[in-house]
Amino acid sequence: MTTVVDRQARLAEILPPAWRDVFTAVPRHLFMPATVWLDSGSPPVRLRRQDDPEAWMAACYEDRPLITQLDDGADTGRGYFSSSASKPSIVADMLEAAHLASGQQVLEIGTGTGWNAALIGAVVGVENVTTVEVDTRLADAARTATAAAGWPVKVVAADGTKGYPDGAPFDRILSTAAVQQVPGVWVEQTRPGGRIVTPWGTSFHNGTLARLDVAADGLRASGRFGGNAGFMWVRSQRTPHGTLDDRVRPEHGYAVSSTDLHPYDPVGDFDASFAIGLLLPGVKDLLVFDDDIDGNPKFTVYLMDPGSGSWASWRVTPQSRGEYEVRQHGPRLLFDELAAAYRWWEAAGRPEHSRFGLTVTSDRQEVWLDEPTAVVAAPVPTPS
Ligand SMILES: C[S@@+](CC[C@H](N)C(=O)[O-])C[C@H]1O[C@@H](n2cnc3c(N)ncnc32)[C@H](O)[C@@H]1O
Repeated sequence: MTTVVDRQARLAEILPPAWRDVFTAVPRHLFMPATVWLDSGSPPVRLRRQDDPEAWMAACYEDRPLITQLDDGADTGRGYFSSSASKPSIVADMLEAAHLASGQQVLEIGTGTGWNAALIGAVVGVENVTTVEVDTRLADAARTATAAAGWPVKVVAADGTKGYPDGAPFDRILSTAAVQQVPGVWVEQTRPGGRIVTPWGTSFHNGTLARLDVAADGLRASGRFGGNAGFMWVRSQRTPHGTLDDRVRPEHGYAVSSTDLHPYDPVGDFDASFAIGLLLPGVKDLLVFDDDIDGNPKFTVYLMDPGSGSWASWRVTPQSRGEYEVRQHGPRLLFDELAAAYRWWEAAGRPEHSRFGLTVTSDRQEVWLDEPTAVVAAPVPTPS
């Protein structure tokens, strides 16, 4: 029988050496709820400890996220993931990016299970960690789990986009929920010279990790993006859910055109889609496979803007032979916008996402390419 120690040792092998002892000291299974979902199918696969304790324990020590809540805890819903214990190797990357040290005051946004907060506590000291969770039931469970596991960090049930003014200033703010706009209060609540680490993305691309250092005057935080970090959004910054049937209605009229641009180039390429997302505010994409002919997939890429009701579809079939049909509905010509953004990215020399950076002040954020003065996206007001 495989013991927890064996499982921990196996997981530790794939983590950065500097983090192995910390991860071993904070056993992941102590924080996991008895029911989790594996993100390996549609619908997600439910795994209950009481049904299969071995499989549940094995899942706790695989390098995979465990979904811990659906639909904000509603008993019935469409099965949207709303909380998870993140993938251990990504957790380690985030902790490394934070440059933690003993004695630092740390605020975590998005407590979830409490596991990451406990890991932070193992480095900086549990008395120095505050973690904020918007969902009261999750916060209560995490408070219980962190105390029972011997890592009693301070768990607060509140909206983390407001930070935690009572504990400010912090040396580090780490968010484990993704944002599209970094709240200005995170900058205000971080000490000059401190660091904010957060998954950051757009409705089109989720996402990458932003590492922002707060300037000596405390008025701005700036830094670059790096790495693939797809996280759940903070609740207030989700692009509204909705199915294809909600958005693309049979009664909608549309204009038809064609393109020789294959979706793989702008949508399938991580760096291209990151850059395109910067220039296509509010737009979501969805890939629908409808068939497979002799191993040649037939699929449609949909672009949707829930804000204006616009959509575009872009169809690839084995018969397309380099000419793909495009349909566009609504006031925004979403395919045209995407094609223009892709051309911009190509003309800029196809920059990797890590050449982009972000500057945040109390009331706005700007994305730049290579230098903070080379702003690429229109300035976006930050939520107050
Ligand atoms: C990926 S999970 C966090 C994983 C967690 N750190 C762990 O170790 O289990 C993201 C969490 O952020 C929470 N969240 C979403 N919006 C929030 C907000 N505005 N303030 C605080 N927490 C939020 C979600 O409820 C969810 O539990």
